[in-house]
Amino acid sequence: MTNYGDLVGGDRVHASLYADESVFADELDRIFTRGWVFVGHDSEVAEAGQWVTRRIGREPVIMTRDRDGSVHVLANRCSHRGTALCWEHRGRATSFQCNYHAWTFGLDGSLRAVPYPAGFEKDRVSLGLDRPAQVDSYRGFVFANLDGSAGPLAAHLGRGGVDMIDRLCDLSPTGTIHLAPNWIGHQVHSNWKMWPESDNDGYHLNWVHASMVSSAPDTYYQETVLGGETGNQSLAVDWGDGHVELDFRPSYRRELAWLGVTRERVASYCDALVAARGAEAANRSLWDGPPHGLIFPNLFLGELNLAIIEPTSASTMVHWHTAVQLDGVDEAFNRRILRQSEAAMGPAAFIVPDDAATAERMQLAVDGVQPGWASAADPRGWIDMSRGLGRERTEPDGRKAALISDETTNRGFWRQYRTVMSR
Ligand code: FES
Ligand SMILES: [Fe+2]
Repeated sequence: MTNYGDLVGGDRVHASLYADESVFADELDRIFTRGWVFVGHDSEVAEAGQWVTRRIGREPVIMTRDRDGSVHVLANRCSHRGTALCWEHRGRATSFQCNYHAWTFGLDGSLRAVPYPAGFEKDRVSLGLDRPAQVDSYRGFVFANLDGSAGPLAAHLGRGGVDMIDRLCDLSPTGTIHLAPNWIGHQVHSNWKMWPESDNDGYHLNWVHASMVSSAPDTYYQETVLGGETGNQSLAVDWGDGHVELDFRPSYRRELAWLGVTRERVASYCDALVAARGAEAANRSLWDGPPHGLIFPNLFLGELNLAIIEPTSASTMVHWHTAVQLDGVDEAFNRRILRQSEAAMGPAAFIVPDDAATAERMQLAVDGVQPGWASAADPRGWIDMSRGLGRERTEPDGRKAALISDETTNRGFWRQYRTVMSR
């Protein structure tokens, strides 16, 4: 049995954790079965019968909305002989009918009809679709816990998760968001944990993303990224519970710097926000912008993008992303967000392809590391994560923070990993 306390130190982790299939099996159990996992946003199933498919760890699920307005998360697996009921990413249905023998399930997962019922003697009630033991949501963000042992969602989100989701939703005059029509998935030959790391790593920006920064000369990235290690005020933040953030707010020198526009260019949006929330709160949001952070383990709030980190094996994963759209704003404003998302995140863009290439190079190197090397006496296969440990400080609000180029975010992720995996 793997002793995770031995493999995750305060300033280093063992590379076998990115490559060993038995570690991956433990992660599916302890993180993706026993913990809360992000599933989707309820705007994706705005109307009754709309459904989307997802995975909770490796478990395929359907998220759908019932006629009474409630959102269900159901196993995408027929209770007869196990066929997937939905095999596309999204759709609309009045019920789910299996294509194999036509068993039919309601939007709530209950078994409604079995063809040739005379030969079937079991009680139908016991043959509804499997479902996660707990499903809960916060401001439209739907999370599920497969085995019911994770405690309340509010305790999982903690201060950091709530603060980051609030900052994103509060950008909308109605306080609500919806998602762009589809997700883009990048299938990457890398361990899933490289993505919570790199999505929240402020150290690599000047190198991996140099081409993006130089092609967008007048954005805040010039200040926040190219300012050098001490030339900007942005912070690498550990909120606790595995939730971490690159906090760019201290670097912003004007409102809307995060959107790369002036107030005049998006006047109707700003007016709507002030009318809805009052000048003080609206101005705060216009300065602060959206968060850039991870909600442990699989949800990345990438400013005006959401990303889902889907593990598929020890050495493969899918990085899904889509653009956030604000409710209560004019169409031109949401289109601007969509165009920015395409320029930054898509397969012909900068961020995800550059990070994917780096992650695959990392996987190439860690694949050769043997789990058996992981002993204190064996120096092989350790990965350093000590940067900035000596200059971390606790902010007045309790967050642990250091320079944006410090590995405070990565250590925050791995501390939670060690806690959860050691249970
Ligand atoms: S497998 Fe679904 S009806 Fe037989
Ligand atoms: Fe990156």
